[in-house]
Amino acid sequence: MSIELVTDRIILRELEISDLENFHFLETDETILKYYGNYPKRNILETKDLLNFVIDQYKKFNTGRLAMIHKINNEYMGWCGIKYNEQQRHNYTHYYDLGYRLKPEFWGKGYATEASKACIQYGFDKLKLNKIHAIVNIENRQSINVIEKLGKFTKENFIENNCTKNWYSIINEHQGIRDEFENVNFNMLKHKFNIELMQ
Ligand SMILES: CC(C)(COP(=O)(O)OP(=O)(O)OC[C@H]1O[C@@H](n2cnc3c(N)ncnc32)[C@H](O)[C@@H]1OP(=O)(O)O)[C@@H](O)C(=O)NCCC(=O)NCCS
Repeated sequence: MSIELVTDRIILRELEISDLENFHFLETDETILKYYGNYPKRNILETKDLLNFVIDQYKKFNTGRLAMIHKINNEYMGWCGIKYNEQQRHNYTHYYDLGYRLKPEFWGKGYATEASKACIQYGFDKLKLNKIHAIVNIENRQSINVIEKLGKFTKENFIENNCTKNWYSIINEHQGIRDEFENVNFNMLKHKFNIELMQ
């Protein structure tokens, strides 16, 4: 069974190779990538490798970036989801981060916040994560605005690629603080999870 989260207006489902064109747009559009610093310029084949990496995450960790599909017209709006990171970044290794990236025509409609709430709920209630992080360039007001609507994130600054960024962390209050490694045992958990989104 694959991961699927359903909110009032959005279906979040696993990315597929057939999403490549949409995914590539999100990987290359300059407006979308404005605050990403020296983000790699990918050609379509490199994007395909990245997409395969994302798809692989679902099997390995039962999480990853998910396609955001408009419930009414089936449009591909962007992606949102919790990724498991094995590489060190700032002071963290083996952590989960929330990310989102929407096509500009879907900005300013509350979709990023709606999808993010569902992903955090999935991370805490289904994956039983202790902590979720988010990394945002301090100049990215729209993204900071999303984080501020999601709950009690703590914040610390760090520098990466000559940009100052906020490293946000939110704790699963129902779970207590334990080591994140304890949660990396999801292989038996493949399931379909429908969310009635928190209002
Ligand atoms: C970051 C990004 C996802 C934010 O998207 P967004 O559309 O601004 O975020 P939201 O979903 O919170 O929607 C914002 C606004 O929609 C408005 N809105 C309109 N209709 C709404 C509705 N039905 N429900 C809720 N909000 C609604 C709200 O007024 C809200 O603004 P406010 O909180 O100031 O009142 C988007 O700018 C993006 O994809 N950027 C490029 C990629 C990027 O930077 N990603 C983040 C990297 S850290």
